Amino acid sequence: MKPKGRLENRNALITGGSRGIGKSVARRFVEEGANVFLCARGESALNGTAEELRGMGGKVATHVADVSDRGSVERMVERALAEYGVLDILVNNAGLTHSGRFLDHSFEEFDRVMKVNLYGVFHVTRAVLPSMMERKKGKIVNMASTAGKWGSLNQSAYNASKHAVVGLTRCLALEMAPFHINVNAICPAGVEGDEMDSMVEHWAHELKVTKEQARKNITSRSPIGRFIHPEEVAALAVYLASDDSDAMTAQSLSLCGGYLMV
Ligand SMILES: NC(=O)c1ccc[n+]([C@@H]2O[C@H](COP(=O)([O-])OP(=O)(O)OC[C@H]3O[C@@H](n4cnc5c(N)ncnc54)[C@H](OP(=O)(O)O)[C@@H]3O)[C@@H](O)[C@H]2O)c1
Repeated sequence: MKPKGRLENRNALITGGSRGIGKSVARRFVEEGANVFLCARGESALNGTAEELRGMGGKVATHVADVSDRGSVERMVERALAEYGVLDILVNNAGLTHSGRFLDHSFEEFDRVMKVNLYGVFHVTRAVLPSMMERKKGKIVNMASTAGKWGSLNQSAYNASKHAVVGLTRCLALEMAPFHINVNAICPAGVEGDEMDSMVEHWAHELKVTKEQARKNITSRSPIGRFIHPEEVAALAVYLASDDSDAMTAQSLSLCGGYLMV
């Protein structure tokens, strides 16, 4: 008989679950016995991921939604609750990176980063919280970044949005503690994947070096000398979504190979 997973029969809504870190989190959650509800804007990647996870024996539902659009989020959460009855776990993972000098950020670019990275978390959390509060039970995991804890060069919009997510995590955790709802954030440094590739490209262009040199330049600043793997982020998300972390709330945990010590 298969041993019981740490998230057996828990229902988890994961935003941005079609690829990258969100997909890794979804895969680990399914391995740990959770039922997952995934959202993203692109339908085909979402369907591909769902197919893969169902092949592992997981119960998977998908919904096309843009987290920056409140109406779209409300419809999604309504459907998730109709489908699964209750939501035990929310992973606010959907987000976008934007690199560029402050004066090169257009108003529209700054606004877009805030709308997805900050308002996205606000919209989904607002829609999910009432049902968690009613049950006096829940786990919320926000995907912030090391950029939410210190200054990062040429990332003012992204960095400000992730600082805001860290602040929101702390305040919400205080309000939600009486309801036994844990709210924590994960702050990864560079994680292998599409987002990191675009960052490497930015620095290759900025420093006038090859992509390989830019990559080396970034990883050499990390004590472990490499980027983080999405699976390593997923492992921490499992802990924060499980009963093992019941005493942990309001934390923003750096997962950065020792790059940052706060
Ligand atoms: N990669 C890193 O180095 C790194 C480091 C620290 C923190 N993070 C954070 O980790 C999270 C995931 O990053 P990642 O590297 O896995 O990114 P990714 O590979 O670009 O994947 C992003 C996911 O979010 C979805 N998404 C993007 N915008 C959305 C929107 N407006 N509404 C709904 N879904 C949306 C994407 O699907 P669609 O495009 O189809 O919507 C995709 O499923 C982000 O919050 C990011 O800021 C990443």
